Amino acid sequence: MKRYEKFADEIAQLIRTGVLAPGEKVPSVRHASRTYGISPSTVFQAYYLLESRGLIVARARSGYFVRAHAQRPLHEPEISARQAQTSDVDVSELVFSVLGSLKDPDTVPFGSAFPSPDLFPLARLARSMSQSVRDMPPQAVIADMTEGNPDLRRQIALRYMISGVMLPQEELVITNGAMEALNLCLQCVTAPGDLVAIEAPAFYATLQVLERLKLKAVEIPVHPREGIDLDSLTASLEQLPIKACWFMSSLQNPLGASMGEDKKRALYDLLQRHQVPLIEDDVYAELYFGTQPPKSVKSFDRDGLVMHCGSFSKCLAPGYRVGWVAGGRFATAIHRLKLMTTISPSVPAQAAIADYLQHGGFDRHLRKLRHALEAQQGSMLASAARHFPVETRVTHPDGGYFLWFEFPQQVDSLQLFRLALAQGISLAPGPIFSATRRFSNCARLNYGHPWDAQSEQAMALLGRILDSF
Ligand SMILES: Cc1ncc(COP(=O)(O)O)c(C=O)c1O
Repeated sequence: MKRYEKFADEIAQLIRTGVLAPGEKVPSVRHASRTYGISPSTVFQAYYLLESRGLIVARARSGYFVRAHAQRPLHEPEISARQAQTSDVDVSELVFSVLGSLKDPDTVPFGSAFPSPDLFPLARLARSMSQSVRDMPPQAVIADMTEGNPDLRRQIALRYMISGVMLPQEELVITNGAMEALNLCLQCVTAPGDLVAIEAPAFYATLQVLERLKLKAVEIPVHPREGIDLDSLTASLEQLPIKACWFMSSLQNPLGASMGEDKKRALYDLLQRHQVPLIEDDVYAELYFGTQPPKSVKSFDRDGLVMHCGSFSKCLAPGYRVGWVAGGRFATAIHRLKLMTTISPSVPAQAAIADYLQHGGFDRHLRKLRHALEAQQGSMLASAARHFPVETRVTHPDGGYFLWFEFPQQVDSLQLFRLALAQGISLAPGPIFSATRRFSNCARLNYGHPWDAQSEQAMALLGRILDSF
């Protein structure tokens, strides 16, 4: 990481954690240069970067100030409580009833699982699609079904290499989105009735996969900033015959929590001691706001225990349905399971993404996307502070496009969901994120759409509904 990027991240952290308040002056260039022993041009570069990320603004002849919306007046939620028992999972009906109601295009999409499609370079991707399909050697239309598009696998392996993970290409299985990868991984290492450690709260599809495969959930508490509670996990691993863990170590859905590097290493060591495989769901890996990508637990994997699942759905092209898993020691078994079920993701879609990764300017697009999401997060946080009850708690994630709200105890988020939907606003109510239907006063809101007057009005309306509980 360059020195100015590191300095910019340090200042961004001070803003996010409220040390530097909205409207406050950030250290002058001269002061910062003297105090931190860096050159004035390094400080300038850092401040330009923070300006482009929407965190600070320059005022003529006065210096740089924290943007008014970059504030943190609502507190963070506490870590979820530990559940002693294991549980059968039965959430699908509830999840489908919530998801089914999100389809109306006129609804304000706070409940959506995706960012706005307007943030994706779909026209450029279409060019890659037509070019790559035209150039495709005839045998590829058959061969790429089994092994995956070779250019795509190479590009993905290169991205791993840049992030510090040396991955033999044979470990990579290209799948129909991360969802297929996650399903196959779990099927590979469990049998019906087995115990699987998951997060509380967890991505609702995790619960649905457990339900479908007749697995039992062991819910591990997640801290809203630091990720899963390793002490609880240690206790569960010692007491219960857990067969696999399914965790998100960075930008966890729905909390946005990211574990620090040391904690990721400690998690790996713990699982290694118990020889329990980790299914690492890392679909938001590219949506970090800092200047450095977070490391994965996979990067500490010495003996193929981690199955690392990624996807282009969240950062490039949801409907193309291209994801992958770096399957470690399970790669061959996962590959065979895939051949026995769906055989392959669409060959043209793989070719299009491979071409785009090589020629389309993926990293430039990602930089723009991250900046847009970071600014939109600021807008939603500021709006929540204006309109929601003061006791409301909210996460402040370092990336992604979700905020997790914990409302006052008396708020029933399923009722909130129904009342809001009747007014044309969707949201994702807390109980769909739990095997035991906890989090009844919580909800996940999506800030992945450009902020406008309609978003602001919707937040005001939600605030009035919340006040009515
Ligand atoms: C945490 C998490 N994992 C996996 C997925 C599925 O990703 P894909 O669309 O690539 O199948 C999603 C999508 O909502 C998600 O939020």
